[in-house]
Amino acid sequence: MADENPTPPTAKIIDGTAIAARVRASVARRTAILKTEFDLTPTLAVVLVGDDPASQIYVGMKTKRAAEVGMKARDIDMSASAAQGQVIEVVEQLNADKDVHAILVQLPLPPQIKAEEVIDILDPAKDVDGLHIINTGLLTSGRVGVVPATPLGCLALIKSVTQDLEGLDAVVVGRSNLVGKPIAQLLLREHCSVTTVHSRTRNLDEICRRADILVAAVGRPEMVRGDWIKPGAIVIDVGINRLEPQGADEKGRLVGDVNFAEAAQVAGAITPVPKGVGPMTIACLLQNTLALACRNAGVPMPKDPEAA
Ligand code: GUN
Repeated sequence: MADENPTPPTAKIIDGTAIAARVRASVARRTAILKTEFDLTPTLAVVLVGDDPASQIYVGMKTKRAAEVGMKARDIDMSASAAQGQVIEVVEQLNADKDVHAILVQLPLPPQIKAEEVIDILDPAKDVDGLHIINTGLLTSGRVGVVPATPLGCLALIKSVTQDLEGLDAVVVGRSNLVGKPIAQLLLREHCSVTTVHSRTRNLDEICRRADILVAAVGRPEMVRGDWIKPGAIVIDVGINRLEPQGADEKGRLVGDVNFAEAAQVAGAITPVPKGVGPMTIACLLQNTLALACRNAGVPMPKDPEAA
């Protein structure tokens, strides 16, 4: 049963929906400039292999939002039984297509497909997820490549609370290639002292309690409890987990990797689930698509006419 009278949160709730809407509006204004000044329409190709319902929803949102900001989105839907060679062939065609500026291969891929091999043959200049080893290497070396959208979104949400991250203790819970590792790199670049922890870490709670910035990206519902959080910390919850349906709640409640009700009594600022990191991922994906379109077409990134 949900608590009928939950204690109101004392933390600032970081509004990912509002911040993402501002990012998308800026992308839309700059996309319009590209069209009028350079006759260039940024084009994102999204490859979906199989019929995983969650992936279908994510991909549908990505292409809808791309169209809303004036970009072209090309959906390539492949059968769940597609062979490795067929997926590779599709990616190679997209690599060679001058009208495609950015390619996203939705993960996870079906078990017969070797994701690493697919990512390895992506053109790094079109790798909008920043997963190719050229892009992960550039990020790790502090150079300019493509940074995955979710970590970019997390950083923007942290910076909506404070711009000055220098010297802060950051703890990242999770070590995935798509989120944990790149967000740790981004926070290092901001001069945080970064600790990455994961499911095998000893004394997880103790380490988390040292964090001025805590990023949870492990995919375990409500694993981070209120007493794992340092009072006043910034808490970014990347998890999206659906709980088992209970009673009238037919679909099951969506929760993050952080126990929100508890954490919101201790943290200084916290992202909710949903409406926290989720909308920022798509907004930053569009930002990456815009940047790749400019870079691949050899035109300068337009300035946002409404930027301060
Ligand atoms: N699956 C879940 N999130 C993502 C993402 O950001 N990119 C890709 N390619 N697949 C995902």
